[in-house]
Amino acid sequence: MSKQEKKQVTDTEMANQADLSYRFATIHELIHAAHKTCSQGTWDYLAGGSDSETTLRRNRHGYDKLALRPRAMVDVSTFDPSVEFMGKKIRLPLILAPVGSIETFAEGGGVVTAQAAERFNVFDMLSSRCTPGLEAVAQAADNPRIFQLYVRGGDEFVDDHAKRAIDSGYDAFAVTVDSATYSRRERDLANRYLKKWRSNVTTDENVWQAQWTWDNVKRFKDKWDIPLILKGIGDVDDAGRACEEGVDGVYISNHGGRALDHGRGSIEILPEVVAECKGKTKIIVDGGIQRATDIVKAKALGADMVGIGRLQCIGCAAAGVDGLVRLLEILEEELSIAFGLMGVTNWAQVGADNLRAADPVHEPSVWSSHIMTQLPAHPYGG
Ligand SMILES: Cc1cc2nc3c(=O)[nH]c(=O)nc-3n(C[C@H](O)[C@H](O)[C@H](O)COP(=O)(O)O)c2cc1C
Repeated sequence: MSKQEKKQVTDTEMANQADLSYRFATIHELIHAAHKTCSQGTWDYLAGGSDSETTLRRNRHGYDKLALRPRAMVDVSTFDPSVEFMGKKIRLPLILAPVGSIETFAEGGGVVTAQAAERFNVFDMLSSRCTPGLEAVAQAADNPRIFQLYVRGGDEFVDDHAKRAIDSGYDAFAVTVDSATYSRRERDLANRYLKKWRSNVTTDENVWQAQWTWDNVKRFKDKWDIPLILKGIGDVDDAGRACEEGVDGVYISNHGGRALDHGRGSIEILPEVVAECKGKTKIIVDGGIQRATDIVKAKALGADMVGIGRLQCIGCAAAGVDGLVRLLEILEEELSIAFGLMGVTNWAQVGADNLRAADPVHEPSVWSSHIMTQLPAHPYGG
């Protein structure tokens, strides 16, 4: 590109600053913008996992071992990636996964993700560890919504949150079960970056989560008339037990590699859980999703829905509600392309036959979790 041409691109870009879809043409541009808004501590809190970050990398590795089959000469002139979940028809099979302290990434916290979820029409799962509270978020947006709880008290504590979630119109209630003990996130420890709940939490408060068992699940199901999702299921035996207990959603997750280290990638567990639970409960999976092709892979293996954690924070940190909506638009565009080139037009046509095993690609993509700190150069040198 000549100097003159380069200048024209830059001038055009400047003239279109207000146009978000021009400003953020790619996900890595959103990442770049998000990075600029974060301190090193905040960025490491976002990007990091526990201990040696082995589970974190396996999450990504699991997707990289799967290839998509291209199919040609099929009529792909229509495109319908919508699904129904918890009684709502939504635009993509996507949940904005719960993010504690989302307010660190965007002023407004839970309101930002809820409003983006309303604008784009996907589910937002609100963390009990963010601000403002569940009622204020519900009042700020009319989005498909799920409330996620960390257990920080006895039965009264759980009951209080269940009642409030029902009163505020949440479509489902999730309890996170992969955090019986708080992991060592070594980036945060080394940065002395301790979130309020980590530094202030008393042993007494933590103990409730550590004591939460299948008896509590049974009690919840007997008492409350709201779908219950267990988030953080990491083994087929627990998934099977959840089905026996009548749990409405099994959410396969290792907390984005932030809980037990040296675990398996969550996508690797998905086929076992599907074999055990499909048709008995809804199956959700998260961990390592960076592209629409990852959503396709999870759906092809039998997931009903997928969750995005870090990607969501990137959209928020880059440009608040607009940034998150833009991120979702890019995912949808990627998805329409993948569908077209795979010869499918809706999710009913996507299954295991669309996948093949492949050698993993070790070179990092524009956003592999393990290179999040080594950002690609901005195309215009910004
Ligand atoms: C900054 C951050 C905060 C999180 N906070 C919560 C939380 O409050 N509750 C929860 O159940 N999971 C939490 N998670 C885990 C996410 O809900 C999700 O399972 C995970 O991020 C998915 O992996 P991904 O980031 O690779 O998409 C958090 C994840 C991140 C990155």
